Amino acid sequence: MKGLDRFNDISEVVEADRAHVWHHLSQHKQYETGVDPRLIVEGKGMKVWDAKGKEHLDAVSGGVWTVNVGYGRESIANAVRDQLIKMNYFAGAAGSIPGSIFAQRLIEKMPGLSRVYYSNSGSEANEKVYKMVRQIAHKHHGGKKWKILYRDRDYHGTTIGTLATSGQDQRAMQYGPYPDGFVRVPNCLEYRKQWDVKNYGERAAEAIEEVILREGPDTVGCLVLEPVTAGGGVIVPPKGYWEKVQEICTKYDILLHIDEVVCGVGRTGKWFGYQHYGIKPDFVTMAKGVASGYAAISCTVTTENIFAMFKDDPTDTMSYFRDISTFGGCTAGPAAALENMNIIEREGLLENTVKMGDYCLGRLGELMEKHKVIGDVRGKGLFLGAELVADRVTKEAADEKKVQAVVADCMAQGVIIGATNRSLPGLNNTLCLSPALIATKDDIDHIIDAMDGALGRVFV
Ligand SMILES: Cc1ncc(COP(=O)(O)O)c(C=O)c1O
Repeated sequence: MKGLDRFNDISEVVEADRAHVWHHLSQHKQYETGVDPRLIVEGKGMKVWDAKGKEHLDAVSGGVWTVNVGYGRESIANAVRDQLIKMNYFAGAAGSIPGSIFAQRLIEKMPGLSRVYYSNSGSEANEKVYKMVRQIAHKHHGGKKWKILYRDRDYHGTTIGTLATSGQDQRAMQYGPYPDGFVRVPNCLEYRKQWDVKNYGERAAEAIEEVILREGPDTVGCLVLEPVTAGGGVIVPPKGYWEKVQEICTKYDILLHIDEVVCGVGRTGKWFGYQHYGIKPDFVTMAKGVASGYAAISCTVTTENIFAMFKDDPTDTMSYFRDISTFGGCTAGPAAALENMNIIEREGLLENTVKMGDYCLGRLGELMEKHKVIGDVRGKGLFLGAELVADRVTKEAADEKKVQAVVADCMAQGVIIGATNRSLPGLNNTLCLSPALIATKDDIDHIIDAMDGALGRVFV
């Protein structure tokens, strides 16, 4: 069996896990009643092996759209190893060689932006923006413009601050009360129309303007949006949406924060999701795919204008960004991120993402013709979803247990797919695909065949 030769007895490892590890997003009672916790012990390319030696094709890049360049990349491991031996860590008040060079390479791909602030998770990168917006409000707007708008169905992280901007009620439930000043705007999913109009994208953006006017434009500092909503059901904004959003932000002097934690670094076929739409963000945050999970890294990227607001009064001892992220000073992150970026360029993975994304969307369309439980398919690049419904006319969501049964059936076949899960009450009904950017036609066919079989068995 691959990779298990290192352990005398893998069952010891499983028992250690069962006894001591608290898994993310998991109800643990099942592990006391005969079910073993799942351990993934090895990966290569698009494939992973579990503790029992079973091989799986991973259609979700490490479960949460992260391992963009695939598993087992020795060149990243070597870059990280070399860097760790030379200089592993110093607090981020000082710079580092990989931190400086990666920031330069990143900024070359993000015209209009110029400064990179390092931390180590998507949640943290987003919190940095919220803190910057609040400090700008205090320093430059006399305490006004302190509110942050977020969108229904979007997700921005797991801390109390970022959960205050959760557009997914089931994620935020039971962890309140939340801090003030975070205000929800409507989602833009055209499949579940909230307005009966032709130009849906523009109308959905106008709904943001309505919230701004209700709250008072002088109280609103920032709007945070995912370019394509991820865990909220793979929502690609309709035509006209982004143009109008940009216009509204400019009109009311509201900073635009794009959360690229999922879309960033290639997932949608461009370096960043927002680059499909010609918009000019004030902040871009990124994490998961930046180093494909080979090291923890997140970035909060902003403009020279914003940066200037934090250095304009050197005599005021409180006027700079008084924030630190201890592990934002780890050099493994930018060292891994640099080689991750090299791989994407060397292997033409953006082009592959566009090609394979189109192919996969086409294959999902074929599945939709065959299985009437699929109400909608949507996506951009290798970031795709299929929404399951009990009835195509009423669009009543498919039973959540059955959606999970499709995921479990695929898993039993050795194919790991995802689904919206404990996010949106009554609407956890979208199957999600986000294979690594190296996916081939054969990989996509394999994934679609597994889904075809599962849908046929679960929805008889
Ligand atoms: C869009 C988006 N933003 C932020 C986050 C939070 O990232 P992290 O789990 O690294 O804190 C996630 C995580 O899934 C996400 O999907």
